Amino acid sequence: MEERKKTYGLGGKVCAVTGAAGAIGEAIASLLFAQGARVGLIDVNEAAGRDLVGRLDPAGDSTLFLRADVTSEDEIDAAVKRILAKFSRLDVLVNCAGILKHEPIDEMSLANFESVVRVNLTGTFVACRAAVPIMKRQGGGKIVNIASLGGRTGRPGVGVNYAASKAGVIGLSQTLAKELGPHGIYVNAVAPGPILTELTKKVPPDVFERWNAGKAVTKNGAPVDVAEAVLFLASDLSNWITGVTLDVNGGILIR
Ligand SMILES: NC(=O)c1ccc[n+]([C@@H]2O[C@H](COP(=O)([O-])OP(=O)(O)OC[C@H]3O[C@@H](n4cnc5c(N)ncnc54)[C@H](O)[C@@H]3O)[C@@H](O)[C@H]2O)c1
Repeated sequence: MEERKKTYGLGGKVCAVTGAAGAIGEAIASLLFAQGARVGLIDVNEAAGRDLVGRLDPAGDSTLFLRADVTSEDEIDAAVKRILAKFSRLDVLVNCAGILKHEPIDEMSLANFESVVRVNLTGTFVACRAAVPIMKRQGGGKIVNIASLGGRTGRPGVGVNYAASKAGVIGLSQTLAKELGPHGIYVNAVAPGPILTELTKKVPPDVFERWNAGKAVTKNGAPVDVAEAVLFLASDLSNWITGVTLDVNGGILIR
């Protein structure tokens, strides 16, 4: 049997990662880069994004930071164009940008609800739409969307805005997988369980503990656990897998 290359097919590929300056996005961008991919890192947090690029790839040959807001079609289209200008192709898109603004429903304003849906769900659509024509022209590609356990099943205190946005990401991924399969474009989602990051630090510790309860294993989740699932779905290790949502949560959903 021919031995698989260690890069899992990612060597020289071009990946775009939104939310790359956050904890999970950084782990994803770093792991893809470590497999030999060239990576466009997209985020609104310019300082953290540039700092990461400086640590990963000081010469800047194989990475590019792009300050862009996923809710802005113009900014994301421009960011994708700059990735194409530098690397000439786009093989993988990982949608990881996300926000969480929990409030009980009777205190949640429409503006709050819509702002979370706009970043988490509409932002995923905007980035997919920018990437798909390029992947179609190239004859294939891989899209991995970061959903959440909160979009899989009702979780206490996660917020209806966040849960609805992440359930939407799962629906978007499944339908896009069907639509784009004939073009050789794979679309999958990863649904992480609770991981302590800037996003979840704002959540009261007792709420976080309730989210985190019921794991089959005792190990707490870390950003790299999500990154390894994304690596699988972005690489040649998953060439007959599309439209799935991969749960990465230490077995929380086992009944
Ligand atoms: N931490 C968890 O427990 C957990 C669980 C399930 C899913 N997730 C998801 O994982 C993803 C990453 O979360 P994290 O925990 O690393 O949080 P994080 O706050 O560390 O990272 C989120 C990143 O998204 C960026 N971002 C926010 N709004 C943006 C926008 N409009 N345009 C571009 N970038 C934007 C932020 O600047 C930040 O760098 C999110 O989609 C989140 O919903 C996290």
